[in-house]
Amino acid sequence: MSHHPKISIIKNLTTSSSSDIVFIGIYKDKTLTPSGKNLSTDIRSGFDSGIKSGDVKGKTGELNFFYVDGRKYALVGLGSKSKINAEKIRIASGSAIRSAISKKAKTITLDCFCSEIDSCQPMGEGIALGGYEYNDLKTMDDKSFSISEIEVVNANEDQLNDGIVIGQAVCFARDLGNRPGNVATPTHLANAAKDISEAGNIDIKVFDRDEFTEMGMGGLAGVAQGTDEPPKFIILEYNNGGEKKPKVLVGKGLTFDSGGISIKPAAKMDQMKYDMCGSAVVLGVFHALSKLKPEINVVGIIPSTENLSGSRAVKPGDVLTAYNGKTIEVLNTDAEGRLILADGLSYASKHYDPEYILDFATLTGAIVVTLGHIATGIMGNDDKLMEEVKNSSKKTGEKVWELPLWPEYCKQIKSDVADIKNMGSAGQAGSIAAGAFLKEFVEKNIPWVHFDIAGTAWGAKPSSINPKGSATGVAIRLVLDMLGK
Ligand code: BES
Ligand code: MN
Ligand code: ZN
Repeated sequence: MSHHPKISIIKNLTTSSSSDIVFIGIYKDKTLTPSGKNLSTDIRSGFDSGIKSGDVKGKTGELNFFYVDGRKYALVGLGSKSKINAEKIRIASGSAIRSAISKKAKTITLDCFCSEIDSCQPMGEGIALGGYEYNDLKTMDDKSFSISEIEVVNANEDQLNDGIVIGQAVCFARDLGNRPGNVATPTHLANAAKDISEAGNIDIKVFDRDEFTEMGMGGLAGVAQGTDEPPKFIILEYNNGGEKKPKVLVGKGLTFDSGGISIKPAAKMDQMKYDMCGSAVVLGVFHALSKLKPEINVVGIIPSTENLSGSRAVKPGDVLTAYNGKTIEVLNTDAEGRLILADGLSYASKHYDPEYILDFATLTGAIVVTLGHIATGIMGNDDKLMEEVKNSSKKTGEKVWELPLWPEYCKQIKSDVADIKNMGSAGQAGSIAAGAFLKEFVEKNIPWVHFDIAGTAWGAKPSSINPKGSATGVAIRLVLDMLGK
């Protein structure tokens, strides 16, 4: 759940209401953010004892509370002033919000933490993300509390609001990711897509099992053979850019990955509820688009199913025919993500004239070995688009690292019996083999980048803006930056 308090901008602290807590930023050099500096000497001397005692260090996200003149103040650490950046502002803002929730403060005032950087957007993101918690399924906790009003002193309203919209889109994606497999089914994802399309005047089409099978989507149909849970192929079209070429986003919507006949070990198999986090990137971006309304065209494509081992399940050795006609030898039914993405990418290539295609998938365990939970692995076919991705990664702090798709790797997925096989050489460059496989389904002249988010979609180090054990909503901020937001 994310909180949706009323946000207002005020000119200075003297016009502030009698909110429950006033949060002021403090740097390591013990200087305060602008409205803190303007507080009366009486109030500021109230902070001095805490600063002199050494309790107030100004470390990013640190909190110290003071009661002066009958009012509650908190100093929020922002780290060293020369090293301030968007991520530290998110963390500090999140930390303020989190403490307000734990202290049950209904109304709070926050000084703008962004005076040393060029935008207030990160503060809005931190405010939205800091309140995030997934507790929908807890019936024994008191969930009645929420912050009702936040005043921000002297922030840029448009930037702050963009940040809040983006933060809420990330929270929306986290909710989808955190929901268990029996709740977040392909039908649930299709319904979420419908809700977004109605709210934002976005076109939607959903193909069911019979329809996409008939259409020739042999990858998705093959993986879906093993489950009775209805699979879906979901298409969203956001058209607000006239004749501009659409940017296409494809997301893996595998709502539970047991591995299929090539079944996974029991340990941590529960985590495979997160295997639809690629689709959550697409839905999160559309959630934001429906509110930000930029003048562009964007298409979202989500192949969605469970990967189970029912009596009709696809078997190792089976050959499937993807939507672009290529035949695939299934050597491991647990390499299912690439099978459903094959149809998503082929569909995007055939039915649109994209400026570019980006795909998002929790695709390989190997990427967790390579990059841990720190960076998303990226691969692609176009240097210019790759630079754009890296540039947005730097701006948003969502780390990416490129792996090569050299011809030597691409040869490793040639099959003896079909066009290609769904895994490379066992134990070797597994994430690249997956990328090389996907490349076969992207029309050659379309710039494309693949994001392997298996390490970053969950499992990140907990912080004030991302609770322990939660889906992260990774890549949404990066993509929105690429889309000009
Ligand atoms: N969804 C998994 C990838 C995954 C595994 C993500 C562990 C996060 C943690 C994917 O469908 C998968 O099972 N990939 C296989 C591919 C292999 C069989 C070629 C893998 O990585 O083991
Ligand atoms: Mn799998
Ligand atoms: Zn999977």
